[in-house]
Amino acid sequence: MDHRSGAVTPAAQRLSRPLDAIDVPHKKVEKICCLGAGYVGGPTCAVIAFKNPHIQVTIVDLNAARIAAWNSDVLPIYEPGLEDVVKACRGKNLFFSTDVDQGIIDADLIFVSVNTPTKTKGMGAGYAADLGYVESATRHIARVAQGDKIVVEKSTVPCRTAQSMRFILEANSRPGIRFDILSNPEFLAEGTAIADLMNPDRVLIGSLNTDAGRSAAASLADVYAGWVRREQIITMNLWSSELSKLAANAMLAQRISSINALSAICEATGADVDEVGYACGLDSRIGPKFLKASVGFGGSCFQKDILNLVYLSESLHLPEVAAYWRQVVEMNEYQKKRFLNRIISCLFNTLTGKKVAILGFAFKKDTGDTRESPAITLCKYLRAERANVAIYDPKVAESQIWLDLTEPGVTDDLADLQKQVSIAEDAYSACAGADAVVVCTEWDEFKCANLDYKRVYESMNKPAFIFDGRLILDQKQLEQIGFHVETIGRPRSNFTTPKDWE
Ligand code: NAD
Ligand code: UGA
Repeated sequence: MDHRSGAVTPAAQRLSRPLDAIDVPHKKVEKICCLGAGYVGGPTCAVIAFKNPHIQVTIVDLNAARIAAWNSDVLPIYEPGLEDVVKACRGKNLFFSTDVDQGIIDADLIFVSVNTPTKTKGMGAGYAADLGYVESATRHIARVAQGDKIVVEKSTVPCRTAQSMRFILEANSRPGIRFDILSNPEFLAEGTAIADLMNPDRVLIGSLNTDAGRSAAASLADVYAGWVRREQIITMNLWSSELSKLAANAMLAQRISSINALSAICEATGADVDEVGYACGLDSRIGPKFLKASVGFGGSCFQKDILNLVYLSESLHLPEVAAYWRQVVEMNEYQKKRFLNRIISCLFNTLTGKKVAILGFAFKKDTGDTRESPAITLCKYLRAERANVAIYDPKVAESQIWLDLTEPGVTDDLADLQKQVSIAEDAYSACAGADAVVVCTEWDEFKCANLDYKRVYESMNKPAFIFDGRLILDQKQLEQIGFHVETIGRPRSNFTTPKDWE
């Protein structure tokens, strides 16, 4: 790319195979099966069904409760727009089932969209991806397949996983069956999943550069061509495709850690991190996205995928590369601790017995997902400081909050936890009687225009503190009400020194 004009250079053209190059004879996909009805499998395959009424799409999962929810009026995940898409095609060409065998037998093309969490035990624990679910799904395909299949890695996997899948498939299947493996990583973000799927920046398909590989890639490209422009569907070699997914997540998270590192400098110098991010983002080489400072990034994938990259780098004997990426995660942990320290120090260095209201428990707005949410870490720290914590989130189920806070390593005694933590039905009751309010998730309903902060202020202990971990509040407006406002990436207010003591 010419870095200023964005023009595609011959080198860039050579690097990714244009779709024409794989416009080879190929099979039209008629039936798709997706193994895994989670945050990716569900929305992705629902959109595929919605945009391809001629294709029958069956999403299967071992988790019967999850499948029952997909078949009910209350879907198992909250995503704006998802319900409309599901309702438009469920029972017509979109089906949710626990019958994994039948799903595999019927399909020409199978997405493997199962979880790939960080390993918790054994070699690489804490870093490497646990590929147990991918392997078991692959073995399941091998065991029951009765004809040729295109098998698509949709899960985020370490580089060269496709090779292991092929080995397992060929070693365990009936003679004569052919499996073509593709990599087709998913780039959707939660909270905007449907918009991202409907209008993706790109669809990436990795395949072997053989006639069979190109033919399988063309079959999958046809599915996406149901709504995605051909030039946005790019193809490349399998390993590049697998690594591109880890690389994209690492680079996105790196930007957040970069702006969060700058937020610490802003707080110490009087600069404003929103202004710094804005100024940097206007440079077309940098761009404005993912420069919002915060209490830290959460979500099921950023940390997991970076740690995976760290592990890969270490396995390849590249310690400097591993250290470079590890620092992105370390900066994220530092940001959460820094935020807590600010809360403690503002509240006169003790939180014992004080009530702290946590507004937002999801890892970002417009999702009920709490995986790796910074709010979980913050609650853990607040409990260690013996604060009483009241949590409110508009979309996270109460049971999920208890589950997150009783996870091993956090605490496992629910009765003990409930002496210190309560879950509120709305923001007002969470804040009533609190010494401090902490905004952990950027839900629109917490913005000054949507929440009556005068009412919140009146119900709180004084001095009333508010800590904005998402930079969504109007600091001046809140200060006029009487709050002491502390915002990430803005200097600390000097509220404790009376004028005549300065
Ligand atoms: P998830 O945990 O929500 O869903 C995975 C599902 O797979 C679960 O419901 C589980 O029961 C099911 N499953 C496991 N083994 C199975 C098997 N053998 N057969 C059938 N079902 C099986 O996970 P997710 O968030 O959807 O993520 C899936 C993959 O996609 C991960 O690799 C993740 O890194 C990647 N990814 C996630 C996102 C995201 O926003 N969540 C975005 C892009 C990529
Ligand atoms: C991220 C990527 O954006 C997706 O492209 C990718 O497919 C997905 O991970 C995945 O592989 O799972 P997601 O984690 O759903 O998507 O949501 P993001 O919008 O990326 O936000 C991640 C975290 O970063 C959130 O906690 C968010 O609040 C935080 N964030 C984001 C910031 O703190 N600042 C920003 O500027 C942007």
